[in-house]
Amino acid sequence: MTKDDKQIIYKLLKTASDSIYGYSSPDFAGEMPEFQDDILVSGEQVAGSSEQLAVSGGQSVAGNGGLSSESTLSHINKKIAECKRCALCANRRNVVPGMGVENPFVLVIGEGPGEEEDKQGKPFVGSAGQLLDKMLAAIGLSREKNCYIANIVKCRPPANRNPMNEEADACRPFLDAQIAALKPRAILCAGSVAVKNLFHSEDGVMKLHGQILDFNGIPVVTTWHPSALLRAPENKRTAWEDLKVFRTLLLSLSPDYDK
Ligand code: URA
Repeated sequence: MTKDDKQIIYKLLKTASDSIYGYSSPDFAGEMPEFQDDILVSGEQVAGSSEQLAVSGGQSVAGNGGLSSESTLSHINKKIAECKRCALCANRRNVVPGMGVENPFVLVIGEGPGEEEDKQGKPFVGSAGQLLDKMLAAIGLSREKNCYIANIVKCRPPANRNPMNEEADACRPFLDAQIAALKPRAILCAGSVAVKNLFHSEDGVMKLHGQILDFNGIPVVTTWHPSALLRAPENKRTAWEDLKVFRTLLLSLSPDYDK
């Protein structure tokens, strides 16, 4: 589909949405996103340019957002700040690229910013963030010492809904570039949205929690998202088992990772 076709569809949907709701709904408020022409790569139609990041396995098929596997964190953050690749840009107060140390032992991947994160431009700073910090501290991890925390999408989805596939796909080059720049020794996926999108998998946390998966040579463990644990504390025991699996893995990679 061409960029022009997408703009026409966007305008039609906006007009329909405005006439149904009688006002500009959050999904269509603000400027129109920057659409790109689809291109054909190996007979498969994908959005964006033909350049792809040099990371492999579960990798992005979307255009690279002006990034390469050599991009530095500050360049990635700049590109995220400028991004209009999907409609989520329209209502953001701040982008939330991520935070933590620049050479983390662990990359934590969440879902997307909530209200407080959108206000502050930092990931996991609301009540779920406080629980996440406690979960990490229990296994010797923290964003100040040895972790970087990022999300599948870098802008807040309206009313904290799950990111849509096209939003996650549009944002994917940033996550791939973050992984390439940060070179974490291990990844912790917080919740189904994280693991499903990282691996483009149908299976979520219920099936995959506590297993050691492989993302291009980087071991990945999944556990419950802290927001889910706040809603259903009965899963905290299983989440703790997952964290123990993760800790054993981290110790096998470096016995003094938490020193
Ligand atoms: N939930 C997430 O998945 N990410 C955040 O940054 C905050 C809450």
